[in-house]
Amino acid sequence: RIENNLRPQMLCDYIGQEKAKETLKIYIEAAKSRSESLDHVLFYGPPGLGKTTLAGIIANEMGVNMKITSGPAIEKPGEIAAILNNLQEGDVLFVDEIHRLNRQVEEVLYPAMEDYAIDIMIGKGASARSIRLDLPHFTLVGATTRAGMLTAPLRDRFGVVNRLEFYTEQELTTIIMRSAKVLEVEIEKAGALELAKRSRGTPRLANRLLKRVRDFAQVKYDGIITKEVAAYALDLLDVDRLGLDHVDRNILLTMIQKFQGGPVGLDTLAASIGEDAGTIEDVYEPYLLKNGFIQRTPRGRVVTERSYHHLGISVENLEK
Ligand code: ADE
Repeated sequence: RIENNLRPQMLCDYIGQEKAKETLKIYIEAAKSRSESLDHVLFYGPPGLGKTTLAGIIANEMGVNMKITSGPAIEKPGEIAAILNNLQEGDVLFVDEIHRLNRQVEEVLYPAMEDYAIDIMIGKGASARSIRLDLPHFTLVGATTRAGMLTAPLRDRFGVVNRLEFYTEQELTTIIMRSAKVLEVEIEKAGALELAKRSRGTPRLANRLLKRVRDFAQVKYDGIITKEVAAYALDLLDVDRLGLDHVDRNILLTMIQKFQGGPVGLDTLAASIGEDAGTIEDVYEPYLLKNGFIQRTPRGRVVTERSYHHLGISVENLEK
């Protein structure tokens, strides 16, 4: 699929996340030269910043296969035991949303990660005993939007922990130019920059918006993505000048109009706009916080002056 082609396959094609990239490069090279599997890696941070992509790159660079699963998909200890037992020497096991593993499944992972072994109970009652089953060496790559929700014993078993950051406009512009080349669509640098400015620091969103803007360029213009085409299409898509979408603006407007700018608690806010609290916290809030639209205080979230300005609401009028 073309969508998959947009994901870089090797570290040298990966743009941004310089710190994660530089350190991973060393750990991969060191593990390879010792002919060992790479130590377990945890990626955390907002969605769309490249956790899955980096897991795939680790597997490619190590020259092994990657199995993909997720926290909510594994319900029973036997299921994770079977997955682990079916891995081949050195394989990467990617567990998305790893904070959502249940307790019993997580407990199977402890000896698996530490000693490459699982303990299996045989028999019942007084004659029950456990036997140890050796596993192939493997690399667990865990991904989560919330590192704070991992239990300490699980978090401590990752040798490498990386927080992924929002991308700069410059990095996103480069990613968009690269994606446009893969998609074989002509784009001007100013067009790519306009897309980058409105992509909330997130490559997944940048690539999605690029495809939509390409459709406009193709049908309504001469196929070239210029700054004007990008701006026109993104306005229609309700993505504003700073990349905020309908939900972002709804969050800010609700905080201003219903809660006098805050402080307001997450659950109260979520109920008020009819969004899931976890989605607000994981998906929307990180970008709004990072860019100074809202702040967290001990008593709840508050909007900043920047939000009033951006939404064209006067602070003075409101206070009267
Ligand atoms: N496509 C999506 N994310 C990317 C990245 N970080 N570098 C290059 N291409 C990408």
